[in-house]
Amino acid sequence: QSERTLAMIKPDAFRHMGKIINAICQSGFLISKLRVGRLSKAEAEDFYAVHRGKPFVNTLTDFMSSGRVCAMELVAPGAIRKWRELIGPTDSNQARSEAPQSLRAQFGTDKTYNACHGSDAPDTAAEELGFWFGPGRLPGKCDLG
Ligand code: CMP
Repeated sequence: QSERTLAMIKPDAFRHMGKIINAICQSGFLISKLRVGRLSKAEAEDFYAVHRGKPFVNTLTDFMSSGRVCAMELVAPGAIRKWRELIGPTDSNQARSEAPQSLRAQFGTDKTYNACHGSDAPDTAAEELGFWFGPGRLPGKCDLG
């Protein structure tokens, strides 16, 4: 009963990709798919459509379209919860007090610049995996360019 989740390394932590991938592998996930690329502002808005209208969404989508990201499909028993535990609380400052070993504690700054993303439930995992890895998605991108 392996589960799949969508993990992203955000632009602020892209330079730490090697360390983050090492932590993922050490934690017993299989990385079954991986794409690297830049999202346009419109693509970032599409990815975060669930947050449309929230006060932080413009800052969030500016940030997420500001540099390269790494999207991965992670496979493990209980992968959704397991990955969210490894990344820690949304706010990196809170992560540093509550989960100092977490990836957001180590590589993020605050609640906007927080290093990593993880799907929060099976339905959003399926949707977000489709966004990055569904047939024909983001054509011509994610080519390490
Ligand atoms: P993420 O796991 O990618 O999911 C939604 C993102 O919105 C979250 O990480 C943060 O980067 C951002 N976010 C959530 N809440 C806030 C907030 N109150 N202020 C600023 N950014 C937020």
